[in-house]
Amino acid sequence: MSPRPANWRAPMHNVLVTGGSRGIGLAIGKRLVGAGYNVIAAARRESDELKAAIGVSEGRLHFRACDLAAIDAIPAFAKLVRDEFGPTYGLVNNAGLGTEGLLATMHNSQIEALVQLNVLSPIILTKYVARQMMADGAGRIINISSIIATTGYNGLSVYGATKAAATGFTRSLAREVGKLGITVNAIAPGFIDTELTHNLSDDGRKRIASRSALRRLPETDDVARMVEYLLGEGGRNVTGTVFTIDAGNTA
Ligand SMILES: NC(=O)c1ccc[n+]([C@@H]2O[C@H](COP(=O)([O-])OP(=O)(O)OC[C@H]3O[C@@H](n4cnc5c(N)ncnc54)[C@H](OP(=O)(O)O)[C@@H]3O)[C@@H](O)[C@H]2O)c1
Repeated sequence: MSPRPANWRAPMHNVLVTGGSRGIGLAIGKRLVGAGYNVIAAARRESDELKAAIGVSEGRLHFRACDLAAIDAIPAFAKLVRDEFGPTYGLVNNAGLGTEGLLATMHNSQIEALVQLNVLSPIILTKYVARQMMADGAGRIINISSIIATTGYNGLSVYGATKAAATGFTRSLAREVGKLGITVNAIAPGFIDTELTHNLSDDGRKRIASRSALRRLPETDDVARMVEYLLGEGGRNVTGTVFTIDAGNTA
């Protein structure tokens, strides 16, 4: 984590990051801690990487276990976070599955799991956290979508459907809660090296990079920087929109 400037002052805002134990979610948590936020990282298991980040966070990064696929447990989890940490200023719906498969041969259980974790869980979690934000009169919600929401990719039809749901949810919810001082935005990353994408071959990676305007792939911290922007002063009049971070893959 980068050293803080002498005039650094803690914003004292809580941000709940789902899927904060590795990959993009962990990068978001680390960056937000560096920016002075108090971050609650939710996932099923605390990874070694997250443990190490918590160790150097001066008490600003916390892990709370939650299986977000267990929909009925979500209201109690939202309450637990509020009871323990106080008002939630930011919610980053990042946890997700990236299961690939041709629709014709995909098991129904895989389809259901994708829709459950990528669509139903963030919607229900947002419902309970947004209620708290409404009472507080402020809040920032960020949904992690994907460029696959708008581009086609062989073997990702179900995943693509769930990521398109995230942007549809974002736009209408922004309309609904804007008058209460809450912003809602989505980020659509291109291919980023994480556990979710470990199946892609080196050749596949190179192909994607060579087809991108910047001839490279975006990184987890690029998404984290956009989250920081949306949570900060710069994001106060930004809502209902989708930010593509793909090194120009879809340009
Ligand atoms: N990587 C990419 O190229 C890419 C591109 C566009 C969009 N995205 C999106 O970015 C988000 C993060 O992706 P990533 O690449 O960072 O994935 P990742 O490395 O696989 O991390 C997924 C995170 O979600 C958590 N998670 C999974 N199942 C969960 C459950 N049932 N309950 C609670 N947490 C759960 C995981 O922790 P546990 O397993 O311990 O629960 C982990 O923290 C996803 O929404 C993904 O669709 C990724």
